[in-house]
Amino acid sequence: MSPQTARPAIDLSDLAVNGAPPISNTSIGVISVTLTEADIDAAVSVLRSGMLAQGPHVAEFEERFAKITGAKHAVACANGTCALQLAYGVLINPGDEVLVPAWGYIATASMIVAAGAKPIFCDADPTTYNIDPQDAARKITSRTTAIAATHLYGAPVDINRFDALAKERDLHIIYDAAQSHLATFNNTGLGAFGDAVTYSFYPTKNMTTGEGGMVTTNDQEVANRLRQLRSHGETEKYVHGTIGFNYRMTDLEAAIGVSQLSRLPDLTGQRQHNARAHDAAIAKIEGLHAPVTAPNSEHAYHLYAVRMEVDRFKCTRDEFCAALKAEGVGSAIHYPRSLTRQPVFASEIADHPPVADRLAESLFCIPVHPALSEQEVALVGEALAKVAAAYRM
Ligand SMILES: Cc1ncc(COP(=O)(O)O)c(C=O)c1O
Repeated sequence: MSPQTARPAIDLSDLAVNGAPPISNTSIGVISVTLTEADIDAAVSVLRSGMLAQGPHVAEFEERFAKITGAKHAVACANGTCALQLAYGVLINPGDEVLVPAWGYIATASMIVAAGAKPIFCDADPTTYNIDPQDAARKITSRTTAIAATHLYGAPVDINRFDALAKERDLHIIYDAAQSHLATFNNTGLGAFGDAVTYSFYPTKNMTTGEGGMVTTNDQEVANRLRQLRSHGETEKYVHGTIGFNYRMTDLEAAIGVSQLSRLPDLTGQRQHNARAHDAAIAKIEGLHAPVTAPNSEHAYHLYAVRMEVDRFKCTRDEFCAALKAEGVGSAIHYPRSLTRQPVFASEIADHPPVADRLAESLFCIPVHPALSEQEVALVGEALAKVAAAYRM
């Protein structure tokens, strides 16, 4: 074979980052926040009523959210961080050890510290990116009282294994579903599992209320205590049984939530549809891997995280993403480092979970949101294939 014919079909000079034409002339963003006229009308009608604080819209939102997630009770609150703080406030005590993923968003772990307890960081599963049940089981001590497991990116953890572990070792289990509103496990909403499940309605999430959060539970007593904690430990008007907070959601936010919730099944379906196209494109690209979902679960694709085998490419993950951007395809890094590498935690960690460290260098999230057109979804796949072909060793 002559040197000319040995030249790969695509090389570095073909990349937009090196001056060649891009795959997409317009930029395909990784995030889209859409408020419809119905959402805006719902908010305006609350504004016109003058009744802005927690009231009937919050009650309606809670009822609908419980139903759609398969839970018996739902307690709305100010944001997803408050939701964690409320759930931990009810289910864990100061001094407890709580198992938490090293790979994920800080709030799941930091609110354990805010509750006076100790986060014990567990490694990630290398293919689902969720907390590894084996590492979690290994890290249980006589002081462990709870597991805080995140359904990361929209993908349920293997709930059968975690529920069994919690039962066997007599632990509470709190699931953080901030990124996974309508994901399912065994064809059931995530609200049906665990002692409590927390959610966020931050604008970039699968649905939004501006800021907002929710805790679902199947235990009436837990729901009562969550409600008290949300409102200064109030048991009746101006009677305070415990120290609590003001973590209430406003009716303005809840009205937007009710409106958004009616579209959420369709929007989630669109995310899943887009993800199927990405799965098919990535299956043909050597060195890149689509996310793997735990058995019997349905991913809600808040984020579509691609795993790159970095040693098969002559570029870093960040250089790969810069090249994608030049092709017109946005991406985002969730997350640039493992939680044990965060300055606030690092000094107390002797062994950094190795899989989480590897994910920090090899994952990137591509656009999967429901506002993408079929053509944009296809262009994302084409850009991935082009950049991978140019950089692959
Ligand atoms: C997994 C996870 N947990 C908790 C939170 C906190 O939610 P909020 O931003 O509404 O406080 C987030 C938000 O990004 C999250 O992704």
